[in-house]
Amino acid sequence: MTHILGFGGYAPERIVTNEDWARVLDTSDDWITQRTGIKRRHYAAADESTMTLATEAAATALKDADLTPDDVDEIILATDTPEMMTPDTAALVQDRLGCRSIPTYDLGGSGCAGFVQALDVARSRIIVDPKRIVVIGVELISRMISQEDRSTAVLFGDGAGAIVMGPERGRAEVLGAVAGTDGSAAEILTLGAGGTRNPFNADSLASGDYNRLVMDGRKIFVEAVRRMSEAATDVLAKVGRTMTDVKLVIPHQANLRIIDAVRKKLRLAEESVYVNVQDYGNTGSATVPFALWEAVNQGRIAEGDLVVLTAFGAGFHWAAAAVQF
Ligand code: ACO
Repeated sequence: MTHILGFGGYAPERIVTNEDWARVLDTSDDWITQRTGIKRRHYAAADESTMTLATEAAATALKDADLTPDDVDEIILATDTPEMMTPDTAALVQDRLGCRSIPTYDLGGSGCAGFVQALDVARSRIIVDPKRIVVIGVELISRMISQEDRSTAVLFGDGAGAIVMGPERGRAEVLGAVAGTDGSAAEILTLGAGGTRNPFNADSLASGDYNRLVMDGRKIFVEAVRRMSEAATDVLAKVGRTMTDVKLVIPHQANLRIIDAVRKKLRLAEESVYVNVQDYGNTGSATVPFALWEAVNQGRIAEGDLVVLTAFGAGFHWAAAAVQF
């Protein structure tokens, strides 16, 4: 048995609205709202970093679980925007949180599916070796991608979400999870520079490659809808439940139109799908744990409710989990 013992989240204070973007880029509130549903997003301050965002969310989740850093046996952190190339951000969070010399891992590069994948990994680790694991999804995207490319800049925000998982009875039980990958689609969404294929150097700096997110928005759209709906259905089949049992689906928050299309495919009412993309934009691997934390705090989830988390991102990777409160 694997349980969620506590929930946490963190959004930086600074808010950047669509009107703010329209003042510096050739874009408008109308364009962004119609295509994405996003109205505002949060940006990290200069003295914040991926590690500080992650630590805030993890500390909140620990407090929520009524646990201390001493109680943590492992940390798994999902991010595409790490503090540095090496070491991993999870190691820095372990130190900042004040944990014992526990093992920590980053699950890097799996884009917006990273947190649900990490939850699945943590779940199997707990089954094999009962322990308490802090699972974090965090991104500081505003510092990593071009602020001059209107086709990507307006889509994203910074933030973090976290849960504490463990073998003992907690707030919710993770009934099961599914995950998948289609590496043949890898080139459809890349931030290529900085790796060994295209290292950071004078050329990548001069060409602007160093912070250019390359994506085929329409292909991502179609695949995100298909994979998130299928993953949600598959995980329910795996745990012997159906969509009619579900109180709330928490999908990755990339775009309101993608979320709406998933909702229609799953034949769900509006109130059965959690949406906060209007307030935070796409915070990558942080969207699902942050939304879960917010949904719990807003009273959208009560004891007895079945919740499905479903996510899709670069790779392509997708993953879903069924969580029984
Ligand atoms: N403001 C104004 N115009 C813009 C902007 C902007 N911010 N960005 C692009 N445009 C222009 C384009 O240049 C294009 O102009 P053109 O017709 O003169 O060439 C025009 O708007 C239309 O662009 P399209 O690509 O056709 O717009 P589309 O309706 O496909 O919407 C979008 C684009 C919002 C990116 C959509 O495809 C989408 O959401 N796709 C999913 C991508 C995504 O979410 N990526 C995030 C990471 S992956 C993930 O999280 C799953």
